[in-house]
Amino acid sequence: MAVVADGADERERGGSVVTGWDTHEPQSNGNLHCSVTLPLVTTLLHLSDLHLDDDLARGRLDRALRILPPSRRPDLIVITGDLADHGRREEYVDLVSAMRGDIPWIVCPGNHDDPALMAQVLGWDQSGAMSLDVDDVRVVALDVTVPGEDHGHLRPEVTDAAFRAAEDAENVVLALHHPPVPLGHEYADSIGLSNPTALGDLVIALPRTRLVVTGHVHTALATTFAGRPVVGAPSLAAALRPDPAARPLTDAGSAPGVALHELGPDGVRSSFHYAWDAATSAA
Ligand SMILES: [Fe+2]
Repeated sequence: MAVVADGADERERGGSVVTGWDTHEPQSNGNLHCSVTLPLVTTLLHLSDLHLDDDLARGRLDRALRILPPSRRPDLIVITGDLADHGRREEYVDLVSAMRGDIPWIVCPGNHDDPALMAQVLGWDQSGAMSLDVDDVRVVALDVTVPGEDHGHLRPEVTDAAFRAAEDAENVVLALHHPPVPLGHEYADSIGLSNPTALGDLVIALPRTRLVVTGHVHTALATTFAGRPVVGAPSLAAALRPDPAARPLTDAGSAPGVALHELGPDGVRSSFHYAWDAATSAA
């Protein structure tokens, strides 16, 4: 864990990340040394597309939750939709059972989910947006699903709810299922967010937006949108094959993958990690 500053050394002291050059008191050998203490980074473990429906899917979730060592314990877990494969109550109950640890977590619905059932089992706010704070970061989760459809759409009432939830936050992370940008994959792009400009308007209205996190396309994704980083987490369930003509479209034998986002005063660093041992043992 580290905050990266351009050209700077970095190390941790007593739980704080230390970074930056101090040129005022060079050491006896003349080398520059570290002396500026900055706040700890906030770490988000980002999961997506769990598609919980059986013991195999549950096992992949459990392995993903164990992917980080205790020394890299995240501050918050965000799950960007397709929690359930069929939107059934028992699938959400299974999620609650898996998330019994003491790390706070927040979800948004995906096209496989049932927001009404999520409200009953997970406490999802059917206004279409809800938030969770950790350190000085507020994660705001949005519902961009369209009942009965695979594509997404950001409705005005959800935009309004998200703005109200985020407007007084110091740092905002927006979490939604559908990426606002095309992937370059014919099928994935056919079921994308139909009105990305609405999300762009929301980002512009919330200038403290540091990061947008997404799922849906079942592959890691990193780009920019409205001047902000957009990062998609790989799927826990099955990875998208790069060839849109491939059948099946996804590979269920792939390793479950997660994204890790570290937000600090110098920006955001995202990395992707895969439970390769899980893939081999699950075959
Ligand atoms: Fe999915």
